[in-house]
Amino acid sequence: MTHTETLEYTPQIAAKTAAYYAKVESVIPEIEWPSFAPYIAAINELKRERNAIILAHNYQTPEIYHCVADYVGDSLGLARKGASVDAEVIVMAGVHFMAETTKILNPEKIVLMPDLAAGCSLAASITAADVRDMRKKHPGAPVVSYVNTTADVKAETDVCCTSGNAVEVVESLGVKKVIFLPDQYLASYVASQTDVEIVAWPGSCEVHERFTGDEIRGYKNSYDNLSVIAHPECPPDVLEAADFVGSTAGMIDFVGKQSSNKVLLVTECSMSDNVAVEYPEVEFIRPCNLCPHMKQITLPKILASLQSLQPRIEIDPDIIDRARGSVERMLAI
Ligand code: 13P
Ligand code: SF4
Repeated sequence: MTHTETLEYTPQIAAKTAAYYAKVESVIPEIEWPSFAPYIAAINELKRERNAIILAHNYQTPEIYHCVADYVGDSLGLARKGASVDAEVIVMAGVHFMAETTKILNPEKIVLMPDLAAGCSLAASITAADVRDMRKKHPGAPVVSYVNTTADVKAETDVCCTSGNAVEVVESLGVKKVIFLPDQYLASYVASQTDVEIVAWPGSCEVHERFTGDEIRGYKNSYDNLSVIAHPECPPDVLEAADFVGSTAGMIDFVGKQSSNKVLLVTECSMSDNVAVEYPEVEFIRPCNLCPHMKQITLPKILASLQSLQPRIEIDPDIIDRARGSVERMLAI
C-alpha cells in the first residue's frame, strides 16, 4: 500500500470505525465518512506496529482530533506530552514549530511532520539574527520567545512561553524589562496584565489578526447572552470585547465553566467543531477563519508518514543544545 492509493471503504472498515463515527457524526456529514474511515483504521493499526504516538493540536480537523490522535492540546500541553512519552516515534499533527519543539525535547526520537510546509506566520516573522539585534538595542533585557518560533530563534532565547503561561513566565524573571517576541498582540496582552516593561516585535498571526472589535461587538448585539472566548493572538479591541482570554486549552476549559448556551470561540474555526462534539447542548457561533498551515495536515499524509517514517524533523545538535534550555526553563515554571 502506498499513500497515492485511495483506500477502500468496506463493511469491515465501517464496523471497525463505527464507534469513531458515533463520536463525530454531529460535525462530519455521513457522505464524507467513507473518505476518512479507511485511513482512520489504517493509521490506528500502523501506529501500534510502529510504537508511534500522534500528538494533535486543538486546530486539527475532527477526523484527526477525535479519531487518530493519542493526545490533543495547546502548544504547552503538546510540549509537555512530547517531553514525557515512551513511544519511539512521535507524529506531530500540528505545525512545524510544534514538531521542532518536540524534537528539541526528544532528540533521540523520530519526530515525524506529515507535511514540512505546515508553517506559521509568527514563526516566519523573525530570525535568529533579528533576536541578536534586539538584544543589542536593549542590553541586559532577557528574551522571552513565544513557542511559535523556529529552533534557531529558540537557541537565542532565555526562556520560552506559550499563550497559556506568558504572564507567569515574564513575571518569573524578576526584572523590570523583557524583550517579548514575536507576537505583537500577545505582547500587548501581557503588557496589560503586568508591570514589567515589554519590548515587542511586530509579528502577528495571519488567522487571529483578521478578527476585529466591530465584528465581535456585532455578534454580541445579534445573540443574547453570548459568551465570547478569545485567543490572545487577537488584536487588543477584540480582547477588550471578550469575556475570557486564554490559550486554546484555556478556552476549551472555559467553555465547560461558563453557563451560557451560546459561545463564540474567537480563534481558528476547526476548534469549534472539536469542542462542539463534547458540548452538544451549546450552540457555537462560528466566524470561520482557518489556519492554512494547520490544514496542510490530512489523514492520507499522516498515514504516508507512518508508512515511510518520513518526513522527519532534523535539527543541528548544537541548535538543539542551545534551544533546549529555553524550552526546559519554561516547562519548569
Ligand atoms: P495555543 O498554544 O494556545 O494552542 O496556540 C497555538 C497557536 O498556534 C494559536 O494560533
Ligand atoms: Fe501560526 Fe496563527 Fe496558524 Fe497558530 S493559527 S499556527 S499562530 S498562523
